Amino acid sequence: MNPSAFDAFAPTYDTDFTHTRLGQLLRQRVWRVLAQQFHAGQHILELACGTGEDAVWLAQQGVNVTATDGSAEMVEVTAVKARQAGVADRVTTVQLSLQDFAQSGHPKPEVQSPITHHASRITHHALPITDYDGILSNFGGLNTVNEWRPLAASLAQLVKPGGKVVLVVMGPWCPWEVGWHLLHGEWGTAVRRFYTSAPAVIGNSAIPIWYPSARRLRQEFAPWFHHLYTESLGLWLPPSYLGHLVERWPRLFTRLHQWERHTARLTGGWGDHYILVLQKM
Ligand SMILES: C[S@@+](CC[C@H](N)C(=O)[O-])C[C@H]1O[C@@H](n2cnc3c(N)ncnc32)[C@H](O)[C@@H]1O
Repeated sequence: MNPSAFDAFAPTYDTDFTHTRLGQLLRQRVWRVLAQQFHAGQHILELACGTGEDAVWLAQQGVNVTATDGSAEMVEVTAVKARQAGVADRVTTVQLSLQDFAQSGHPKPEVQSPITHHASRITHHALPITDYDGILSNFGGLNTVNEWRPLAASLAQLVKPGGKVVLVVMGPWCPWEVGWHLLHGEWGTAVRRFYTSAPAVIGNSAIPIWYPSARRLRQEFAPWFHHLYTESLGLWLPPSYLGHLVERWPRLFTRLHQWERHTARLTGGWGDHYILVLQKM
């Protein structure tokens, strides 16, 4: 899978998702977890950082972030955003795909990247060899790979003992998706998460997406990481492609968001995404 397919999303990702009411409600939930797990002065490795919304927010809390993504355009948007927010000194951007981590254990950058000129700090060197205090991957980056154990083994070499890992992953059990698509007679889409993988159209390409259960991911990481907790994200709130419903009925969905916030640990791996929090042994 070539993450450059995501280049096409970079210019509109924030408008289409980040700045929507639904995008903000979902990200607030993730930021609550990040605020509990990561602290000022720490250095966090972010995988599949997208447009850098979390990297910039963490940097504003005093956390240093090495933000990586397989898409050159996403990396560029992150670097520019960090510079505009005045936190470029805390955000280092590196173009790296998850496959680079999973396959070699010693990630190498994609040196052919056409970017560099307007970005503030795009690095084309391997990651620093220091141990990170934690690792973050938000909103489905991990769904583009299916070799989670080699990835976990590689990440285990990069994070300090006791370091936290926060993974926000699309799981198989999404009642909104099943209900919505059944209602519209789209049977294949309704059950797509139960197949081994399902194609997603990204720009001009169709790429495979895998939907591991929280249990499966915990098992894959278990040789190196303790499980701390799992929370549902997007169980009562709908998936991002139904964000228009949230714009239409904001009060209803704000209530559902509050309900979801209070019950998220009870419902664990259910929902459009789940938040898995692990700790390096
Ligand atoms: C849905 S976006 C999430 C972005 C960001 N984490 C956020 O919270 O908004 C998924 C991101 O994963 C990146 N991505 C997809 N497959 C990847 C891969 N194999 N390696 C690295 N990044 C990848 C995409 O370029 C995109 O930026």
